[in-house]
Amino acid sequence: MNERIEKIASQALEDIENAKSSEALQDIHNRYLSKKSELSSFMSKMRDLKAEEKVKFGQFMNDIRFKITTSLESKKAALQKKALEERLNKEVIDYTLPEVDLKKGSKHLFNKIIDEVCDIFVGMGYQIAEGPEIESDHFNFELLNVPKDHPARDMQDTFFIDETLLMRSQTSPVQAHVMLEKKGQGPIKIISPGKVYRRDDDATHSHQFGQIEGLVIDKNINMGNLLATLELFSKAMFGEKREVRMRSSYFPFTEPSVEVDISCFECGGKGCALCKKTGWIEILGAGMVHPHVLEMCGFDPHEYQGFAFGIGIERVAMLKYGVDDIRRFYNNDMRFNTQFKR
Ligand code: PHE
Repeated sequence: MNERIEKIASQALEDIENAKSSEALQDIHNRYLSKKSELSSFMSKMRDLKAEEKVKFGQFMNDIRFKITTSLESKKAALQKKALEERLNKEVIDYTLPEVDLKKGSKHLFNKIIDEVCDIFVGMGYQIAEGPEIESDHFNFELLNVPKDHPARDMQDTFFIDETLLMRSQTSPVQAHVMLEKKGQGPIKIISPGKVYRRDDDATHSHQFGQIEGLVIDKNINMGNLLATLELFSKAMFGEKREVRMRSSYFPFTEPSVEVDISCFECGGKGCALCKKTGWIEILGAGMVHPHVLEMCGFDPHEYQGFAFGIGIERVAMLKYGVDDIRRFYNNDMRFNTQFKR
């Protein structure tokens, strides 16, 4: 009997060796290992054997089955490997496909102006500081000398999230954040670009627009430093021939406060439609940081002074590129957006 079994087994191993596909292997499995196979039929003979022979025979059968099973498995793995190699050899990548014509994007004019302005001030040694667009009433107003019932709140009515949180109406709260972080130790020289929000909507006012805040705090800072800084900026931004003038104005957090005009870059100051025949164009608000604000933000006003200014991003862009409506910045009309590629 054992001889016969060995013969079947060696036949099985030979069949496995010659198998060409996984289907063939499955057939071999059925033929030699299924319940109805000849090999399995020998198992029923166990009944007639004596106890110790039973153990021996069982062991013998197990070894035979183990040999066949492992041989089936390794053949299966070898066939799969071969099939994969054949497939990889056949699959060739075609490098000759024409490239896809991807449109090259460009910066939005809004971000271009931010980059230009920041570059100019970074060149003067300023650091860029950013602040949150969702701001507390405390930072947006109170620390900037605008208490709850102050009439200046009307000019900057904004979107409130709850009693104390709002969409910031100006970038000036970044001043307060930076000053408090510095814990009364100057100097500070920062520029802070970002979005601000107000209850406005017409051709020159949008409910969302951009500002760039500038702040310098040090010992012995005066209006002359502010004027010189803004002159340098205006020439870099609008051309060497620009002159700067200041008109007195009012902001709650600066004293004195000024509105800053540059000589018209369209007519050179003679008077034209752009400057409304005045020869001057208003570009920003500025002033000396109010002693009260310095104090609330942890600086000793007897030791430190500072100046601040706020530039409207779209305003600068509209002047420089002759954009007629602030809403063009936000309508996402590609005919507008792609005009400022350089
Ligand atoms: N935050 C002011 C505004 O939005 C502008 C400003 C900034 C004025 C800094 C003075 C100094 O109107």
